[in-house]
Amino acid sequence: MQPFDLVIRGGTVATASDVMACDVGIRGGRIVALGEGLEGGARDIDAKGKLVLPGGVDTHCHIEQLSGFGLMNSDTFESATRAAAFGGTTTVIPFAAQHGGMDLKTVVADYHVLAEKGALIDYAFHMIIADPHEATIAAIPDLVAAGHGSIKVFMTYDKMRLHDEQLLDVLMAARQSGAMVCVHAENHGIITWMVNRLIERGYTAPKYHAVSHARLSEAEAFTRLIAFSELIDQPVMIFHVSTAEGVEVIRQARGRGVKVWGETCPQYLFFTADTLDKPGFDGGKWCFSPPARSVADQEALWHGLANGDLQTVSSDHAPYRFDETGKFFFSKEPNFKQIPNGVGGLQWRLPLLFNEMVSNRRMDVNAFVRLTATDAAKLYNLAPRKGSIAIGADADIAVWDPERQVTLSDDLGRDETGYNAYAGITVKGWPETVILRGDVIVENDHLKAKPGSGRFLPRGGGQAAKPTGRLAPEMDPARNFGAELY
Ligand code: URP
Ligand code: ZN
Ligand code: ZN
Repeated sequence: MQPFDLVIRGGTVATASDVMACDVGIRGGRIVALGEGLEGGARDIDAKGKLVLPGGVDTHCHIEQLSGFGLMNSDTFESATRAAAFGGTTTVIPFAAQHGGMDLKTVVADYHVLAEKGALIDYAFHMIIADPHEATIAAIPDLVAAGHGSIKVFMTYDKMRLHDEQLLDVLMAARQSGAMVCVHAENHGIITWMVNRLIERGYTAPKYHAVSHARLSEAEAFTRLIAFSELIDQPVMIFHVSTAEGVEVIRQARGRGVKVWGETCPQYLFFTADTLDKPGFDGGKWCFSPPARSVADQEALWHGLANGDLQTVSSDHAPYRFDETGKFFFSKEPNFKQIPNGVGGLQWRLPLLFNEMVSNRRMDVNAFVRLTATDAAKLYNLAPRKGSIAIGADADIAVWDPERQVTLSDDLGRDETGYNAYAGITVKGWPETVILRGDVIVENDHLKAKPGSGRFLPRGGGQAAKPTGRLAPEMDPARNFGAELY
């Protein structure tokens, strides 16, 4: 019998900390050997001249999900995870999204059915809570125990947002269950007030989307959220950080020991608000929230990633077609507020980041692996099974050709978005062969996996979601007048 099912031979393996010339031996879907001159496998992949990296872990993507606007996005689990696989990603965390009046357990069960049928790569879920009434809060412990170790809430969007008291309720429930809380943090009042004034005065073009999401709305919401997080002593992950001021708020909080984590996305690293300023409605392709900002903000985000203020880069894949099923669903001639928010990115996240971080040498290959796979897996308690190349880990691997140049285009997209917001950008470095649990799922630009072959990854909140143990005086049961923490 061959000692290995698969050997990836002669490549350069990189993890978040090391770069080593070695073969990777895979058996039973797991990495079982790293070494020079491993014996033959039932199959060998020649990786000479290639980089052998962990498959990407994309921890924020909207798949087959009703948005805050009440519109289904353009991808199914099959099409979204197909695109992810072609882009070198092997694990996703999409959402099970509760809307007003919905029973949370039913919501989660429904999303499981969709994913079981369609997913081509492995997945977990964040539970979106938009209606935290008593029954919802009561359902949280069972759902976390069943492997849904993170919750997402919104501080804006009319139909999804939580008021401060509701947010505190969710933070407390998460603390009691050991779950991470991820937050879309923008000040709803500022945005609504700006939107109304702009539209009343006839400023309706897509470019006013960026004006309406005044950058201060981010720093304000972060500051308020962090105060809540400190009061309850519940760690939070702030999604899609877009401004320099936002990074600064996170940096200061982390500096005084608050357990706050930060994520940004390619759209904030590679676009500015100018992308919205196009003839007619074309800018609607770049209508996502928060909006892209300025070159100075991009630099602040890169700096935040380099020094650890921000720990991960996800896609926030939220695709809507540029037609009447998507961006024009609510109006043929929409004002900026009627354009569904979101952009596709599951397939492009890794090539864009590889190009900038590794090929253009902004950081290095270890940082690329850390920010796109290893720390993403650790933050959401998927490690050590996911996110690294290590003995015992799932054999989720992308073999990259660091020399291959590709100009991104609409046609390359394997999802159902129909356009590519990054079209025209040339990247150097491409994930050529993608492997999930030892099975080759993408090879020679062909898909080899079948819908439904992805597996659910049950997980609790893990280390990143653990409270610090430092109680705000008013929450300390020994000193307060009856407020209970547990
Ligand atoms: O514009 C975005 N980001 N759309 C997706 C929904 C969300 O999380 O904001
Ligand atoms: Zn969001
Ligand atoms: Zn999102």
